[in-house]
Amino acid sequence: MEEKVAARVIAKYLKKGNMGRCLRDILPSSDLSKGQREEVAELIHDVIRWKKLYEHMIDIRGLKPSPETYLKLAMSGSQVDASSYPFVYRYSCSSYVADILKNHIEWAEFLNETPPTTLCVNFNKSSIDDVMNILQEENLPAERSHLKTAIITNSISKYSKVVQQHFAHVQDESSQLVSLLATATGDSIFDYCAGNGGKCLTIASITKNGKKLYAYEMNIAKRTTLKRRCIEYNANVTVEDNLSEKKYDIVLVDAPCTGLGAARRNPDTKYIESPGNLPQTQLSILNQAAENVNSGGVLFYVVCTITPEETTQVIQAFIRKKGFILSPFDDLPYKKFLLKNKYGAFSNLPRGDVFFLSFLKKEQ
Ligand SMILES: C[S@@+](CC[C@H](N)C(=O)[O-])C[C@H]1O[C@@H](n2cnc3c(N)ncnc32)[C@H](O)[C@@H]1O
Repeated sequence: MEEKVAARVIAKYLKKGNMGRCLRDILPSSDLSKGQREEVAELIHDVIRWKKLYEHMIDIRGLKPSPETYLKLAMSGSQVDASSYPFVYRYSCSSYVADILKNHIEWAEFLNETPPTTLCVNFNKSSIDDVMNILQEENLPAERSHLKTAIITNSISKYSKVVQQHFAHVQDESSQLVSLLATATGDSIFDYCAGNGGKCLTIASITKNGKKLYAYEMNIAKRTTLKRRCIEYNANVTVEDNLSEKKYDIVLVDAPCTGLGAARRNPDTKYIESPGNLPQTQLSILNQAAENVNSGGVLFYVVCTITPEETTQVIQAFIRKKGFILSPFDDLPYKKFLLKNKYGAFSNLPRGDVFFLSFLKKEQ
C-alpha cells in the first residue's frame, strides 16, 4: 500500500518535477494513516536526494528507469556504495552545485542527511516545560536544543496538540537562530519579507510581545495567512498592507533564494544549474529595505543558501552604496553558532539548515 502510493508520487515527479507539489497532490488524498504518510514522504525525500546517483546506477547497471526501480534503490540504501563515484553522483547534485560543495565538503555530507523536525515554542501561549510535557504524554520524542525556543522531535509531531493549539510551530533551528539575532538590539523590528510568518511569530514569542514588531509580505495570499497566524499565536504584529517610508531599528530581509542551505528538506534544489536572477532580486530588495532603517539601526540580510552569488556577492555589491557598514557579530548572543567570513557569517548549528547572515549597520 505505502509502496504503491510512493510509486505514484515518483511517477508524477519523474514527469513533472517539483517534489513538494507531488507530495501535496497525492499524500493527503491517499488512504494512508498519518504515520504511513510520513514514512512515504521520507522515502520520497530519499529518492529525490539521491536522484542523480540513482540515474547513474540505473544507467551503468542497465536497469529499467521506472518508479519501482528508484524506490528499490532508495529502500536498499544504495547511496552508501557511492564513495568511488565522481563528485556529482556521489553527492547527487548538479555540476554548478558540485563546484560550490567541493570547497565545503562538510556541507556536501550534511545537505544529504535526513533532517529532524524542530518546533519553536510560542511563549505568548505556552512554555518549554508545558510543550515538552504534552509531547511526552503523546509519546512523541522531545529533546531540548541549544536555543531557548527550540525542541527537537519527529515529523509526526506536526499533528500534535501543541501545534494544533498554537503552543508551538514547526521551524528549523537556524530560522529560530535568525529570529533570536533579530531581537538582539533595538526597540522596533520590521520583518520585510515575512512570508507566512515563520520568523515573525518566533520574534513575537522570544520577546513575549515586548518589542514593536511590524511585518510586510508582498504576496497577498501569504499576507492573509500571516495575519491569521498572528491572531492564532497571540503575536502582537502590525502587518502592513503597503510599504511606506517609516523607519525601524532593525529591518530583517529574509530574501527569496535558491534554498540550497535547506536542501535536506527540499533536495530538488541540489539540481539547479545557476541562481537565475535571484541575486538581482535580492540586491534590489536590500536597496529598498535600506530606506526603512533608522540612523544607527541595522539591516539584517538573511538567505538559506550557500551560493556565492546570493551571499557574499550581494553584500559586496550592496555596501558599495554609501551609508552602511558591516557589523561583526561579536556582541551578539549565540555567536558561537556562526562561522564568520568577510561579508557576514554562515549559521553552524549541528542540526539546523545553513543560512547566510549579514548585519549591516546604518551610519549615524
Ligand atoms: C524566504 S521567504 C520568507 C520566509 C519567511 N520570512 C519565514 O520565515 O517564513 C521570502 C519572501 O519574500 C517575499 N518577497 C519580497 N519581495 C520579493 C520580491 N521582490 N520578489 C520575490 N519575492 C519577494 C516572497 O513573497 C517570500 O514570501
